[in-house]
Amino acid sequence: MPALLPPSRRLVIRAPDDWHVHLRDGDMLRSVVGYTARQFRRAIVMPNLTPPVTTTAAAEGYRTRILNALDPGGTFEPLMTCYLTDDADPDEINRGFETGVFAACKLYPAHATTNADHGVTDVRRIYPVLERMQRLGMPLLLHGEVTDPAIDIFDREAVFIETIFSRIIADFPALRAVFEHITTADAVAFVESGGPNLAATITPHHLRLNRNAMFAGGLRPHAYCLPVAKRERHRLALRRAATSGSPKFFLGTDSAPHLIGQKESACGCAGIFNAPFAIESYAATFEEDGALDRLEGFASEHGPRFYGLPLNTTSIILERDPLVVPERLAGTSEGDLVPFHADETLPWRFLGPVSAG
Ligand code: NCD
Ligand code: ZN
Repeated sequence: MPALLPPSRRLVIRAPDDWHVHLRDGDMLRSVVGYTARQFRRAIVMPNLTPPVTTTAAAEGYRTRILNALDPGGTFEPLMTCYLTDDADPDEINRGFETGVFAACKLYPAHATTNADHGVTDVRRIYPVLERMQRLGMPLLLHGEVTDPAIDIFDREAVFIETIFSRIIADFPALRAVFEHITTADAVAFVESGGPNLAATITPHHLRLNRNAMFAGGLRPHAYCLPVAKRERHRLALRRAATSGSPKFFLGTDSAPHLIGQKESACGCAGIFNAPFAIESYAATFEEDGALDRLEGFASEHGPRFYGLPLNTTSIILERDPLVVPERLAGTSEGDLVPFHADETLPWRFLGPVSAG
């Protein structure tokens, strides 16, 4: 249980992990990775680079670049994922998992989101891979949206459940599956109705924004991500799930940085950069819902238990001390980044790890 010291000014919890993050590559990687490594002990790193990370060798190279971008002597551990394509090779994935390079595989339906052009066009094409993953106990992480442009964008998650996800679960009942960045009451109900091998990540922003946030007084590109935020009743369902204490729901920020010029554009990129103040955002949400005592389970325990990894043994401290989130942070030579909660005040401040001893 987290220790809440009187007069409730400090919150000490087991060190959290981020089970879904985009760290990018090159200059952007160097700018953003420190934010994730500062707050999280481990992170599941998304493979949607250009070109995508589809082989063990590519994942090892990417892991090395991530570690080289960090200050030496840290404890951050990137957990690598394999991007599934139509011709994904079960043997390569098997090798990557057994040698500890791949922690999971990521399924992007083709064209569903940023750098998903090489994604899967029909899940039946990867059935041999899913069969192997089920046998290995290797988690499948799903971007759960259909891509048919005829389906309304606000319905794409619910239609994915009906037409694709429920079939995968029926055909591979023992597959370990994580429904990533869920946005609907339908997804909450679907995950709750499944076995212990079905779980979901929930982002900080989907707990705070409904779809009106994208249109509040004008077009708000920094509130745009995929899957898009939905109606208020869906946001409330996500908050109930996250704060319920259920081991099926855990932290995954989906922090997805894009330079300001790519966001504030005639065709702005999807993605919210929330890594810098992620744990503060979740803490604000849990406190508002009277569930601060459940933050530790969501942030630090349900994820590792699902992945079959040890719980972190170190702790972090949050202090009740209002924090003003900067309007902008340094990105690359091409531009800055706008963080989630820019210019807002958050009630809790991340202080750092509890010092050793
Ligand atoms: C992500 C990105 O930019 O890589 N964008 C996003 O809106 N979440 C891709 C993704 O996870 O869909
Ligand atoms: Zn993502």
